[in-house]
Amino acid sequence: MRIRNVFFSPTGGSKKIADSFCARLRKELGFEVVHTDITPVKARGQSFDGEGILVFSFPVYGGRVPVQISDRDYDDALLECADILRSRGYRLAGSGAFVAEHSYAEYFV
Ligand SMILES: Cc1cc2nc3c(=O)[nH]c(=O)nc-3n(C[C@H](O)[C@H](O)[C@H](O)COP(=O)(O)O)c2cc1C
Repeated sequence: MRIRNVFFSPTGGSKKIADSFCARLRKELGFEVVHTDITPVKARGQSFDGEGILVFSFPVYGGRVPVQISDRDYDDALLECADILRSRGYRLAGSGAFVAEHSYAEYFV
């Protein structure tokens, strides 16, 4: 069994949390972790086999899976992502939102 750590993370916050989460899963379950960074456009469009556990991480933009821009929290982005993954045949065990530095933070100080 393997854990697939797939992340879209332009400023590194989602990756940092995903790496930590996967390291803990590896420790608890003893599965190997395979990392796939889909931030670069050329890295997207891959398909994965149905084996093991997928950990899929991304920032929220405008309360949505990265598309729109506005001043909101993560709203229904987890539900939106769950719908996308289910429509592609994944069975979801859970999802979560975590606090990370805002990618605009350095422009506010
Ligand atoms: C254009 C834009 C819109 C954002 N909208 C939201 C939002 O609606 N809700 C939220 O909680 N965070 C929002 N954020 C903050 C990002 O989700 C946050 O900075 C995230 O940690 C960045 O992830 P990354 O470091 O993996 O790229 C927004 C960031 C940007 C750049």
